[in-house]
Amino acid sequence: MGSIQLEELRTAEYGYLDRDGHVYLDYAGAGLAADCQLRAHEKRLRAAVFGNPHSENPTSAASTALVESARGAVLRHLNAASGEYAVIFTPNATGASRLVGEAYRFDSHSRLVLTADNHNSVVGLREFARRRGARTVSVPVRPPDLRVGDTALAEALTTPWAPPTVTDRRRGLLAYPAQSNFTGVQHPLGWIDRAHARGYDVLLDAAAFLPTNSLDLAAVQPDFVVMSWYKVFGYPTGVGCLVARREALARLRRPWFSGGTIVAVSVEADWHRLTDDETAFEDGTLNFLSIPDVEVGLDWVRSIGTDRIHRRVGVLTAELLGRLTGLRHGNGAPMVRIYGPADDRDRGGTVSLNLLDPGGLLVDERLVAAESAAAGISLRTGCFCNPGAGEGAFDLTGERLEGSRRWGAASVDEYLARLGMRTGGAVRVSLGLASNLADVDRFLDFVDSTYRDRPAATEGLEPRRRC
Ligand SMILES: Cc1ncc(COP(=O)(O)O)c(C=O)c1O
Repeated sequence: MGSIQLEELRTAEYGYLDRDGHVYLDYAGAGLAADCQLRAHEKRLRAAVFGNPHSENPTSAASTALVESARGAVLRHLNAASGEYAVIFTPNATGASRLVGEAYRFDSHSRLVLTADNHNSVVGLREFARRRGARTVSVPVRPPDLRVGDTALAEALTTPWAPPTVTDRRRGLLAYPAQSNFTGVQHPLGWIDRAHARGYDVLLDAAAFLPTNSLDLAAVQPDFVVMSWYKVFGYPTGVGCLVARREALARLRRPWFSGGTIVAVSVEADWHRLTDDETAFEDGTLNFLSIPDVEVGLDWVRSIGTDRIHRRVGVLTAELLGRLTGLRHGNGAPMVRIYGPADDRDRGGTVSLNLLDPGGLLVDERLVAAESAAAGISLRTGCFCNPGAGEGAFDLTGERLEGSRRWGAASVDEYLARLGMRTGGAVRVSLGLASNLADVDRFLDFVDSTYRDRPAATEGLEPRRRC
């Protein structure tokens, strides 16, 4: 990429943003595609014929070659040795997480340890654990930063347990996000070694981390890493990966087999034999017309430099945070409450907040959703599929939630009413590869001009459909 500045790339490759007047602030939702990625896709499909990769014919072989090449590109991007790590293509990070959950050998002697700020696609692992009698331990996030304390994590990993009866069993699985999609908090990657030393496997959710950070699997060695590629470079959607240590993968037990995963099977004699590599986890026909675009996307990101993207997003995030915390009403009261770290240490470019009125009341996030949309701003409101971080942000302690399982609330609004909450969601602004200072300026101008000195009101807002 040489000396081309990211500002020039914004014009050359992401020109549609300014052409259509978008202020895109939802990179935690999805990254954006560069024009060159779309051109590469079209050029490839027009230049050759690609068939189903499950056979030996020429069109099939053409697909297989590109899929295998993309596998290699993923390994290189993560600095992972192919003898040590396997790349399994999945529909998304959720699909990758599920592959681990349904095949992990939980039992009544093992535990699942989760930080409270996991995305629902990781929190849901607890249902697999529960079904097999394993205990789930949730390690809370602590205000005001909504980080997880080192000591609390260590305690969760060292609680007494019965020794396993099978020698290759582990004590359990620690699953956490390298970066929270709610607060932007980056948890220490050093936890991986600590968990290993205590007999745990580690699932690292890298979905929110990878778009602006390098992950070096020669330096830290989680057993399972999950990711969605559209978060990193916008296109293609529908392709994610489970990158797994081969040794840990071999300890999983798949609950079924399907097309593409077996060496041989008999219907009459009722047996099957799974392949002994990553393909044992790739159910059915791969997304073979899109997987090659992952390599295109990785080449694109490499040509810019992940470190450069990281620095740029870090500078913009610091600017955003500094100016947000400085916003004041005419009476001197703050206009913004930030959930998570208000400084730029060990955090990514995702900032969750609520706006406050001059009397300190929360401005309903649905109002901000409607008014920011009308101003051409793409941001997110709600709890972002991250209920634990939301509970931390809104101080919903175990005591306040006591008995909530039995409330049978039919809607989010009913649930919030039971909790005595006036509003129940945050506003999330997230920055990424194509963000610039003008995006930050326009968001801050919108906040200042729309909410300064304005009393909070909830009348006439649509009911919340989901949390
Ligand atoms: C941290 C994190 N994990 C997992 C996911 C799930 O990703 P997907 O919906 O692409 O499976 C997301 C999506 O927002 C996320 O931010």
